[in-house]
Amino acid sequence: MFKVFVITYSMYGHINKMAESIVEGLQKAGAEVGRYQVAETLSAPRNYTRNGYSNAPRTQHRCAMVKIFVITYSMYGHVNKMAESIVTGLQKAGAEVGRFQVAETLSDEILAKMHAPAKASFPIITASQLPEADGYLFGFPTRYGSAPAQMKAFFDSTGSLWQKGALAGKPAGIFFSTASQHGGQEATAFSTLPFLAHHGIIYVPFGYKHPHLFDNSEVIGGSAWGAGTVASGDGSRQPTQKELEIAVVQGEEFAKVAKKLAA
Ligand SMILES: Cc1cc2nc3c(=O)[nH]c(=O)nc-3n(C[C@H](O)[C@H](O)[C@H](O)COP(=O)(O)O)c2cc1C
Repeated sequence: MFKVFVITYSMYGHINKMAESIVEGLQKAGAEVGRYQVAETLSAPRNYTRNGYSNAPRTQHRCAMVKIFVITYSMYGHVNKMAESIVTGLQKAGAEVGRFQVAETLSDEILAKMHAPAKASFPIITASQLPEADGYLFGFPTRYGSAPAQMKAFFDSTGSLWQKGALAGKPAGIFFSTASQHGGQEATAFSTLPFLAHHGIIYVPFGYKHPHLFDNSEVIGGSAWGAGTVASGDGSRQPTQKELEIAVVQGEEFAKVAKKLAA
């Protein structure tokens, strides 16, 4: 016999319900189970309102125009479509937008094998242009839960800016596309944070600033880490109206933060 402790914290009971099945599985496999919960640290259950965050009073900023670069890599167009809504949101909030893509690193032969359509016509960003902007919204598809090599190659070209601290204090946000619903949009943001941290770039998460993020009635890409779409394995699913609406709000909210930082 072996002994396993199942230790939980569950405010509303969901984790405790899951724990019942965990215990069942452990016992089926012959374990002796110790079932515990950690101590509560709150004095009394809070009157928790899920949308309290988005109801917070909005501040109107009357400050200088900010210039935001929207920089993408998109192999099949999903990220570029999301970027259109990001740009709409930025412009709604009064930002000047520079729209760029990073350089392709794959050969035409490989791209053809991957059935990649022709590239969009946005100018290719170079590292030396980055200091011109007040902030950046990077959009890219997930590759194994992290940024694609094309975006990483661009990040890797920013060493001289890093040496000078040229981007320190500027804000950046990220938006995404994955093939599947749980394909790693959050992991992609998370694994990009070291690039931002090393530059001293301030990561601006999206938070839950759009009610669609609480909508579980259908597949909706995006999270607190940024807007996102779910492309399907064959790329057949296009960004939905709700995903695009989230992207507009990310653009707007990001511009507001950038303005505050630039003020
Ligand atoms: C090498 C490779 C790795 C990928 N890894 C993932 C992954 O980890 N999770 C996922 O959901 N999709 C993954 N995908 C699918 C892409 O994310 C999908 O093609 C992309 O979101 C489409 O966006 P785009 O049209 O802007 O290129 C991968 C695709 C390739 C080619």
